[in-house]
Amino acid sequence: MKLIITGGAGFIGSNFIYYQLKHHPEDEFVCLDKLTYAGNLSSLKGVMEQPNFKFVRGDIADRDFVCSLFKREKPDIIVNFAAESHVDRSILEPELFLKTNVIGTGVLMDACRKYGIKRYHQVSTDEVYGDLPLDRPDLFFTETTPLHTSSPYSASKASADLLVLAYHRTYGLPVTISRCSNNYGPYHFPEKLIPLMIINALHDKALPVYGDGVNVRDWLYVEDHCSAIDLIIREGHEGEVYNVGGHNEKSNLDVVKIILKALGKSEDLITFVKDRPGHDRRYAIDPTKIHNELGWLPQTKFVNGIAKTIEWYLDNKDWWQEIISGEYQKYYEKMYKNRI
Ligand code: NAD
Ligand code: DAU
Repeated sequence: MKLIITGGAGFIGSNFIYYQLKHHPEDEFVCLDKLTYAGNLSSLKGVMEQPNFKFVRGDIADRDFVCSLFKREKPDIIVNFAAESHVDRSILEPELFLKTNVIGTGVLMDACRKYGIKRYHQVSTDEVYGDLPLDRPDLFFTETTPLHTSSPYSASKASADLLVLAYHRTYGLPVTISRCSNNYGPYHFPEKLIPLMIINALHDKALPVYGDGVNVRDWLYVEDHCSAIDLIIREGHEGEVYNVGGHNEKSNLDVVKIILKALGKSEDLITFVKDRPGHDRRYAIDPTKIHNELGWLPQTKFVNGIAKTIEWYLDNKDWWQEIISGEYQKYYEKMYKNRI
């Protein structure tokens, strides 16, 4: 089988490529990535020379380019990770999110229709369900929870999901969708909570916690997300949505304190800053469907996953130092200048 993995130079996509090459060495893989600020070829260093792996630079929203790629490669499966993925950036610049996340998804599916495909998989997010109240720990997102988005990012992801389901119903395109909770692990871009806090703590810099820090996220080690997508594309049922999460809810403040403790740093570094506009309070996934239908269960407990993640950032300083010394610095200043 030949898979095109879009967004494979990003955080989850690169982890997924390592997972696939390890577990399916008989398959062929083409990584299609635009290499935006979030795409990093050094994340793929370990697979670049593999004979069954190829990297192609391009934009999923570029119709001519995508069609010529499909014509040439004749893929069996598309896994679409490519997206603008950061909520804060979507608040600063929403339009780019519409172009990549909505139009890009439509272009990929049109190419699937034109050239034929065994499976199109859309990597979506729990953010399409909006948020849950903090005082109702009994509530969880299921696959039938209504879509109710808060940010331009989540609205663009929900739009893409609706388009994917429409292509299934109208054109019979063999699609699946996964909606996962917050991932963490190696190659996570430093703008996101966990790597940002690890790197700032290592530099004894302020740790900017939005609002009161009680917002809850449901953290999943990235390899567990990869194993879920692997099962869905190979054994999941066409037209179905699968929620992915491991019942691991933590407040932002708790996550930050765990990181500080592991690094032996003082909690005095915690700095409460102006809240994110429209900030979702709590995410919590009910993964019963994927467990019952496909037998998926997460393998990594948070206590072990966060230790492995911190160790990875300590062992791979070159990877993130190159990022934080470049363009990213300008984003950081713009984002946090008037907040800290
Ligand atoms: P990321 O920002 O780290 O990576 C995105 C990748 O997509 C980058 O390599 C970037 O260069 C590429 N890309 C962006 N625009 C492109 C375009 N127009 N054409 C081709 N490539 C393009 O994102 P991530 O955190 O790895 O997330 C991957 C996917 O998983 C996204 O669709 C996101 O919505 C979803 N998701 C993420 C999480 C999470 O916690 N990070 C959780 C659930 C779902
Ligand atoms: O739930 C899945 C989603 O998780 C994915 O769809 C998104 O692509 C991914 O970016 C992530 O979104 P979040 O907004 O939850 O992740 P982020 O790391 O940006 O923030 C996590 C929480 O931490 C959130 O409540 C905001 C807070 N935060 C974040 C940053 C960057 C802070 O308090 N301070 C910060 O500096």
